[in-house]
Amino acid sequence: MTQTAPAPDQTVAQRYGDPVPTAPAAWNPVLQVLHEHRSVRRYLPDPIPDSVLRLLVSAAQSAPSSSNLQLWSVIAVRDPERKARLAALAGDQDHIRQAPVLLVWAADLARVRELAAERGTPLDGADYLETSYVAFLDAALAAQNAVVAAESLGYGTVYIGALRNHPEQVAAELHLPPGVFAVAGLVVGVPDPAEDARVKPRLPQAAVLHEETYDPAGQLAHIADYETRIVTFFAEQNLTRSWIDQTLARLASAESLNGRHRLREQLTAHGFPLR
Ligand SMILES: Cc1cc2nc3c(=O)[nH]c(=O)nc-3n(C[C@H](O)[C@H](O)[C@H](O)COP(=O)(O)O)c2cc1C
Repeated sequence: MTQTAPAPDQTVAQRYGDPVPTAPAAWNPVLQVLHEHRSVRRYLPDPIPDSVLRLLVSAAQSAPSSSNLQLWSVIAVRDPERKARLAALAGDQDHIRQAPVLLVWAADLARVRELAAERGTPLDGADYLETSYVAFLDAALAAQNAVVAAESLGYGTVYIGALRNHPEQVAAELHLPPGVFAVAGLVVGVPDPAEDARVKPRLPQAAVLHEETYDPAGQLAHIADYETRIVTFFAEQNLTRSWIDQTLARLASAESLNGRHRLREQLTAHGFPLR
């Protein structure tokens, strides 16, 4: 982690796989960390100190929260056997076993339900899709703050959406009560430098930035431009991959969601009525 940081224009260009760097309007260490994000899938066994875990959680709790309801919780899993069981449930992803901690970010309606029960007040609003949406969004914002905090300290991370492949078993493993649902896992650890994880280019800004109103024009051209860049990016790592093929395959059918097409019924069965 002692490498010299590349110039800001190179860092932004790298984010897009753009051969023509343009100087950004401003630069600082926060922007550097954000632009250098890459998911890490190989870890050294070094532990994460408790003090660092607490710092990640305070960074997570520093995220905005809708109406300050704070409808989320996080479960820190360090026990190697429990991590291995969760890895098996999440598509057998070995980085979950390798890294010292798996943070499971959960939408949490149970805390406010307990409060309402204790006060004897109604909480019907918690049964609506809107509130579940808020809880999922809160959990995601918190998790992403933890990602940025971890990366700013030189740790690596990777989200584990595959925890939703088998939500019932994950809930049983983590003793999640009704109203608490694992939104995503987050592996955190010291990156194994042997992996050489690279910054993955994103769609051109023209594809995602709309001025004043949404303009669908030109999307296929933007995608074609991106495909060229990302195919080159993968080829530099001796990989033959297409974003277009991967994206269309990932969303082609219910089966291609790896079991997650049952999310609605799993949520309603686990205390999220989604009215
Ligand atoms: C909600 C979410 C779930 C994800 N789940 C997984 C996962 O289960 N396994 C994995 O290896 N990567 C997972 N990822 C990482 C993405 O594959 C990765 O962010 C994407 O390919 C872009 O690469 P980058 O993070 O290196 O820029 C997930 C990312 C997000 C945001």
